[in-house]
Amino acid sequence: MNYPFWDVPLGYGILMGGIAVVHVFISHFAIGGGLYLVVAEQAARKRDDAAALAFLHTLSKFFARLTLVAGALTGVGIWFIIGLLNPAATEALIHNYVWGWATEWTFFFVEITAALLYYYGWERMTAAAHLTVGWIYFAAAWLSLFVINGILAFMLTPGKWLTTGNFWDGFFNPTFWPMLVLRTGVCVMLAGLYALLVAAPYAAGDFKARTVRTLTTWGLVGLAVTVAAGYWYWQAIPAEITTAALQMMPSPMRALRAAIWLAIALGVLLLVCRAMARQLPVALAVVLMAVGLAWFGSFEMFREGLRKPYAITGYIYGNGTEVAQVEHYRTDGYLSHIAYRSGDDGADLFRHACRSCHTVTGFKPLKPAFDGTDREFIAAIVRGTHLLKGHMPTFFGTAAEADEVAAYLFSRIDQRPLEQICAERGESVGPKAYAMRCGKCHPIGTASDKSVSFAGLDSDGLNGVLDMAASLGDGMPAYTGSPTERAALVAYMQTLGSQVTK
Ligand code: HEC
Ligand code: HEC
Repeated sequence: MNYPFWDVPLGYGILMGGIAVVHVFISHFAIGGGLYLVVAEQAARKRDDAAALAFLHTLSKFFARLTLVAGALTGVGIWFIIGLLNPAATEALIHNYVWGWATEWTFFFVEITAALLYYYGWERMTAAAHLTVGWIYFAAAWLSLFVINGILAFMLTPGKWLTTGNFWDGFFNPTFWPMLVLRTGVCVMLAGLYALLVAAPYAAGDFKARTVRTLTTWGLVGLAVTVAAGYWYWQAIPAEITTAALQMMPSPMRALRAAIWLAIALGVLLLVCRAMARQLPVALAVVLMAVGLAWFGSFEMFREGLRKPYAITGYIYGNGTEVAQVEHYRTDGYLSHIAYRSGDDGADLFRHACRSCHTVTGFKPLKPAFDGTDREFIAAIVRGTHLLKGHMPTFFGTAAEADEVAAYLFSRIDQRPLEQICAERGESVGPKAYAMRCGKCHPIGTASDKSVSFAGLDSDGLNGVLDMAASLGDGMPAYTGSPTERAALVAYMQTLGSQVTK
């Protein structure tokens, strides 16, 4: 909370996802593509295959432009964006890994220098010198992945670093090796996908058939390595994180399911391309590329989502709250620790506690989550964010500060009673009231579903449950809905209870 808050009318997740997915896609291609170029050049020179060398020359031009321009720009863009979105976590990463970053930037410098020499060297260097430059390029690119992988994997699984603070404990953390193998597989696969895009416009014939077959092999081998390492990665993540994800974290699990289906689609499409090697249509190569991008995007969203509620597990929360400061926040509240205040305390508290993940009406909006409820209920939810599905950071501010966030949100929602909103939208009140007031903490069908407790209770009994609501669980809100809403909710709870006994 030492930094001003950057309030843009966009979801942080969208900003970060948009730039990061493009960058990782290009940067992995830069590595895999480098390997493909030298391996293919070596083979082509041995066969004295002029057509293949001309193809590689074209590919290296496309490749140099994409990686050196788009890759470098989005890489700097990531620094720019994370510095604005979570300055405290960025600061922690720089402090702990300053030599790591310096090493990575050195490799990157070697990488781009070698990439330029390789491109210009096709007609100006001897074959041996050109190949050497190619290998230097690939080695530097992969080593930069090696370094950055240590820092990225650290954010989810800092392991022993949390107690020792030792650079190497953080670097060679529990998911370092599976993640490195996984990303290396991705590099090989993407090299295949990109090069297929370059090969697709070539005229149907033997050369195209041979090239496309080789490239689909790269794609399939890379995909197989990735899938196997993906399983190893999941196993290497501490069980408390994966269990929480399975039970309480719908977004990363949705992303993981999407990634699994897209990986299957990629495998099938690669086989189709292989079967059509002689006359591979450009459209198919484009579809393959799009599926590859969607797949990698889903995987990265899964990996990022899994870290909730943290930016660095056990060290700093997604909203910039430092774990080491929690005791101070609990006693003094947040406001006295916010270095730059705007004069509107409710807004400042909302920004620092919630705004890094939610907006009011845009990305992961809170307005629909509270429309038709009341200020007291919203305050209880603010105090109880750690109890909700989604695996959010705890609100460590004081009760008075939770009220200020609630007032801020309440003044921005639809304040009509829920039954009126439902009538307008044609929704039934009972299920909606349950979703708004109970389902956030007790989603139906999950481990925290309370339907069993409703079984066998008549409407008096269920009204009793609602009367006692605030004393049923630590953090459970009092029931503050209107009498009409209450009657509809009770009827719905009766239905839920009767479904259990059946
Ligand atoms: C680190 C990110 C993060 C922070 C910070 C955060 N949330 Fe959340 N919140 C989530 C995620 C993730 C979900 C699950 C929704 C989803 O997966 O789409 C969620 C869900 C919710 C829901 C349930 C939405 C629904 O549809 O029922 C509410 C209400 C909510 N958050 C309120 C808050 C409030 C209030 C704050 C600030 C005090 C806050 N959140 C801070 C990430 C966060
Ligand atoms: C902010 C989160 C939250 C909300 C919202 C919430 N609860 Fe709870 N509820 C809890 C917690 C925490 C407990 C205690 C731990 C437990 O039993 O899981 C609890 C316990 C209960 C229990 C006691 C179960 C038992 O066997 O002792 C019932 C019944 C219950 N809730 C029903 C409801 C109903 C009905 C609603 C909606 C009107 C609701 N809850 C809304 C958090 C919440």
